[in-house]
Amino acid sequence: MIKKLVLGSLVFASSIFAANEVNIYSHRHYDTDKQLFKMFEEKTGIKVNVVKAKASALIKRIESEGKKSPADVLITVDAGRLFQAKEKDLLQSIESPYLAKNIPANLRDTDNKWFALTKRSRVAVYKIGSGIENELSTYEDLADPKFKGKIMVRSSSNIYNQSLLAAMIAHHGEEKALEWAKGVVANMAKDPKGNDRYQVKAVANGIGSIAIANTYYIGKMVNNKDVSQAQAVKKVKILFPKFENGGTHINVSGAGVAKYAPNKANAIKFIEFLAGPDAQKLFAEGNFEYPVLAGVKASDLVSSWGTFKDDTISINTLGENNAKAVKIFDLAGWK
Ligand SMILES: [Fe+2]
Repeated sequence: MIKKLVLGSLVFASSIFAANEVNIYSHRHYDTDKQLFKMFEEKTGIKVNVVKAKASALIKRIESEGKKSPADVLITVDAGRLFQAKEKDLLQSIESPYLAKNIPANLRDTDNKWFALTKRSRVAVYKIGSGIENELSTYEDLADPKFKGKIMVRSSSNIYNQSLLAAMIAHHGEEKALEWAKGVVANMAKDPKGNDRYQVKAVANGIGSIAIANTYYIGKMVNNKDVSQAQAVKKVKILFPKFENGGTHINVSGAGVAKYAPNKANAIKFIEFLAGPDAQKLFAEGNFEYPVLAGVKASDLVSSWGTFKDDTISINTLGENNAKAVKIFDLAGWK
């Protein structure tokens, strides 16, 4: 059985350091993951212990635990955080012929300290009937004054937005990225508040006409038992913007082996399992993400949204430009 350990009250007594287990610090906040951990336990007999918290809290925790940290694997939902963990020297390089062969080079760390497990794109969600699809085709367009009062987007403290701006910096430089951020702020329908689903619901209900959101949230809103989500999502459609000189912004969730992992071999096995065909299929079907493993298809629902070309910049760049992005958001007054 998966043992869920609550942050703050976790004590990995030495007695539970049985040889056959793996300790996961995860920021993935999705139900499919529970299923995945169970599948791994059944397949390998290795017990999975999970600490779930925000990536920033997990990173702080690994840092303060130091050499005694029980963490074997850190899982986060954004490349920026994986990069941060690497910068703080909390992850170790691993040798995995399977991961080296199957995770594309632009979706893993240059030193093999982390690997992407899923992709998600950050897209424009517009109200059906608004005509937005004829007016918007690029991320740069979002700053066009013609969209004044039309954009719903969450706060700049959110890492998904920071990574989008980091990509903008990679494409156009800091000065233009600042101009862009100012333009988007000027176009906001409301001050930033709420999560991605909140923005989608607002647009469905006539507040603004373009919501910026990660793709998988749309999948999760369809048939949601929260009727307000299920109804809202019927009123909107996804549009995949691209950068003027690139493709559609993608981000990743991914994992790395902790520097002092007490169960290193199990940790590698675990990440290999998550990058394997069974887990990749579940990520795709159950959480509406794009698999990173070639040959595994997106779910039918996700495929129905259409196709796009991934942006070409390396996922590493999102982390490298994170600090600049945070600064530019401040300068632009993006709350
Ligand atoms: Fe998310």
